[in-house]
Amino acid sequence: MERKKYDKKKLLYTCFTNEDMSENSGYLPEPKGFATKAIHSATDPDKWDSMCVVPPIVLSTTFKQYGPAQFKQYDYGRSGNPSRDVLEGSLRAVEDAKYAVCFASGLGALTTLIGCFSTGDHIVLGDDMYGGNFRLLDKVGKNFGIQVTAVDASNIDNVKRAMRPSTKLIFIETPTNPLLKIFDLRAIAEVAKNNHALLCVDNTFLTPYFQRPLELGADLTTYSLTKYMNGHSDVIMGAIITNNKELHDKLRFLQNAMGIIPGPFDCALVTRSLKTLALRMKKHNSNALAIAQFLQTHPRILKVLHPGLESHPQHALMKQQTSGHSGIMSMYIDGERKEAENFLKALKIFTLAESLGGYESLAEIPSIMTHSSIPAETRRELNITDNLIRLSVGLEDPEDLISDLQNALDVM
Ligand SMILES: Cc1ncc(COP(=O)(O)O)c(C=O)c1O
Repeated sequence: MERKKYDKKKLLYTCFTNEDMSENSGYLPEPKGFATKAIHSATDPDKWDSMCVVPPIVLSTTFKQYGPAQFKQYDYGRSGNPSRDVLEGSLRAVEDAKYAVCFASGLGALTTLIGCFSTGDHIVLGDDMYGGNFRLLDKVGKNFGIQVTAVDASNIDNVKRAMRPSTKLIFIETPTNPLLKIFDLRAIAEVAKNNHALLCVDNTFLTPYFQRPLELGADLTTYSLTKYMNGHSDVIMGAIITNNKELHDKLRFLQNAMGIIPGPFDCALVTRSLKTLALRMKKHNSNALAIAQFLQTHPRILKVLHPGLESHPQHALMKQQTSGHSGIMSMYIDGERKEAENFLKALKIFTLAESLGGYESLAEIPSIMTHSSIPAETRRELNITDNLIRLSVGLEDPEDLISDLQNALDVM
């Protein structure tokens, strides 16, 4: 592809807009591979006057104007920022999507999405999801007149039955959190389409490296970039990605109007992290699978929940709609809360902490930690019991992780 000539003055500290990137601006030949896109898209050194290989962090909250209301590209940092634009460009590239909008957190992304709906609108939810997502939709959304129905979406008839004329959105996580159920994305996208509703998939667990919901019929993907996409447990941020211009325009408007924006430093950190996403996801996948295989043979483990195991009830579906799994898995230990606590306290390499998706391995009890905001009765129905432990398997050497688990199981 021919490279365009640069107008240096015009390019000084400017970035491509969403529109430019979505139509392939022509500055770089469009790369094919995931890692190449993640490393080169949106961070072309030629677009900066200094030719810097790592994009600059632009801290300025305001931008000089040529005349009143006549500005080059940016006027105020909430409405637009070059470091944020670079990150949004990288996100579009790794998802092969037209539009990406970043927010101050994963929950900030969902808050903004709810802002697209009005009183009386109905949302169908998957029944097993991050407790904070459920709390936001159920407790805060309800205050604004948004109605929600949670169903086990692994049975498509449940989704069909839950749809109402007022249903505007189906919102799911797959694999689910913390039970690792798999929902059939193509089937659910069809139900959404037949009912003139949107399908939004929280793709935090797998990232676009392993699962591509937009290509399977979803209208939007949401991310807690805090997790694998950043992968270093040092940034809280969220994003929504879509190919739908109308939705993008609404979200872009709300990003500014609601003010739920990330800071430029954090944007630069996530832009950096996306460059190693492919490498990291491959290693999370192989480490977690090795651990799942070890745990399923251990006498103190009642059941291992990992979609990559052939024993997983939806293993075949997982293989049809994803190309791998991350480091998230859960297990029921032989014991109750006391044994679960003893086990977690005995771990030396896994850290007892909430969250997931970082280079370091973490372990937790969802019922009293990440999912304590799910009502106790719902937790009982779903089998989120006190002997259910969730692991986020990091990037350490698998032999060390396995011996850490072995030692903790011996003393629990
Ligand atoms: C699947 C999933 N979605 C969304 C969120 C919320 O993201 P954040 O903590 O960045 O607000 C989390 C947080 O744990 C999560 O696990």
